[in-house]
Order: sequence, then C-alpha cells, then structure tokens
Amino acid sequence: MGKIAFPSASETPEGWVIPQAWDDYSAAEHAMWDRLFERQAKMLPSRAAPEFLEGLDILRMTQGGIPNFDKLSERLMKATGWRVVAVPGLVPDKVFFDHLANRRFVAGRFIRKPEQIDYLQEPDVFHDVFGHVPLLANPVFADYMQAYGEGGLRADGLGSIGYLARLYWYTVEFGLIRHEDGLRVYGAGIVSSHGESKFALDDPSPNRLGFDLKRVMRTRYRIDDYQQTYFVIDSFEDLLRQTLRTDFAPLYAELQSESDIETDEIVPSDRVFTVGTQTHALLRTTP
Ligand code: PHE
Ligand code: FE
Repeated sequence: MGKIAFPSASETPEGWVIPQAWDDYSAAEHAMWDRLFERQAKMLPSRAAPEFLEGLDILRMTQGGIPNFDKLSERLMKATGWRVVAVPGLVPDKVFFDHLANRRFVAGRFIRKPEQIDYLQEPDVFHDVFGHVPLLANPVFADYMQAYGEGGLRADGLGSIGYLARLYWYTVEFGLIRHEDGLRVYGAGIVSSHGESKFALDDPSPNRLGFDLKRVMRTRYRIDDYQQTYFVIDSFEDLLRQTLRTDFAPLYAELQSESDIETDEIVPSDRVFTVGTQTHALLRTTP
C-alpha cells in the first residue's frame, strides 16, 4: 500500500500490472532467492503457522529459484482462485484494494541486492511472494484478503484508510497466532525477515496481546524497526469472524473521537500474553 510510484501509469488496476519477465532474472538473482529461502525454511517449521507451511508445500515453492508467477498462479488458482501479478513497486491504495477484491495479489518483481539481505525499505519479490502468497492457498485466509480489499474500497469512500491500514499491518504483515505449543508467526513481514521471525516469538522486548479489532485500529505502528507490540489471533476463522461480519463504518466513526494507542502501550482491556520489556526499542533510540 502506499505512494504513487509511477504518475503516468493508468488509473485502472490492470494498467499497473507489468510482465514478470521471468526469463530476465539472472543466476545471481535466483541465487539470492535461494539463499533467503533456505535461511527461512530452516527456522520456520517450528515457528510459522501450519497453514503457512502447508501453503509453501501446496505451491511447491521449495523447487528453487524465484517463482514464475504464471506457474504459481496456476497452483494458487486451483487451491483458492487467487493469482499473483507483477507490479513495478508500490501502487495507489485504490489500485491495491481493487486487485485484492478481485483475488489478485500484486507483487514486486525485483529482488534485493546482497547488501540488503537483512533490511530493505520497499517490499521485494521475496517479501511479497514468500511472505504473502503461501497463506493465500488457505481458503479462510484467502477470503479474509478478498474481504480486506473490498473493505479498503469502502474505507476509501469513508476517508478511513488509515484505520484499516492498521488492521493490515497487525494481521497480514505482523500477525501472531495461537498454536497448541505456544505462539506462531503468520504475518508476511515476520516470516520474510530472518531477524524478526526470531524476535517476534522469543525476544522479551515486545508486548504480545490478544487481537481485538477496535484496539488494533487505534494502535499506531512503526515502519522503521521491529514491532513493539504484536497481536495474537486465536485462529484464522476467528479473525474472519471478527472482521467479515462487522460493519466497519460505525467503528470508523467512533474511532475519530478516540485517542491513538502508542506502539508500546498496554491498556486495561488488553488480553496480555507477554508484557514486553521494550529493551530493544529503548536501546535503539538512546544515542
Ligand atoms: N467488514 C468490513 C467493512 O464493513 C470489511 C472487512 C472485512 C475489512 C474483512 C477487513 C477484513 O468495511
Ligand atoms: Fe507486505
């Protein structure tokens, strides 16, 4: 989601789609994917939601190299009716929502350079495809993402994209989920990050709180470092239940007169899994 990257591009969602040009990837680019993939494949079996790991399997992402979006889309289409299309970079919010509402996931085609292996500003193909696409093979999550796109178009009309974006951030990008042996990660921003897939679950620094729709929509987030708070859903069915059948319009109206909650704050109504020490954030901001 975000800024207009190519002002000359068409106003229609399809106008933003570019060919992936899979044949144009170099051996070094495929090797970069493999390196990132192996690192995450090693750590995620005990940390990621089973639904994410199943998605990797269903989509046969374990084959090596940057996935060919056409082949990936064929498998995804069979599983849940979604496809993956390439875009040049961040696209306008409405274009993004429209694609999601039509079960098209937009992904960057470029891959990070070796010196950006642990950190980059703009999502690349590894984040977009490895991070986001596996869960789209799960029918419940697939429905959630489509509903999010429809909700986005609606929020745009209501001037409330900011609140809805927080929901995306704390679920699709940085969500945690309960699992019989503790917590697991499912957010794309976590599963595609080597450091954060450890930090989000093991570090004493961040808060881990039960997901509550309105609470999440009141909560600020940071884009420059690991999250100071993660929200935990009980299951994907529960996430869908809390969002799909709730009319967000009255919520948006209420939120206007309520204050934001800070990135590290815990409020009395929170269901607390972990009270974070916030050591990580404190060390980062002290000069
Ligand atoms: N129910 C929401 C609305 O009324 C739409 C939505 C559904 C948003 C699921 C996110 C996820 O706008
Ligand atoms: Fe993302």
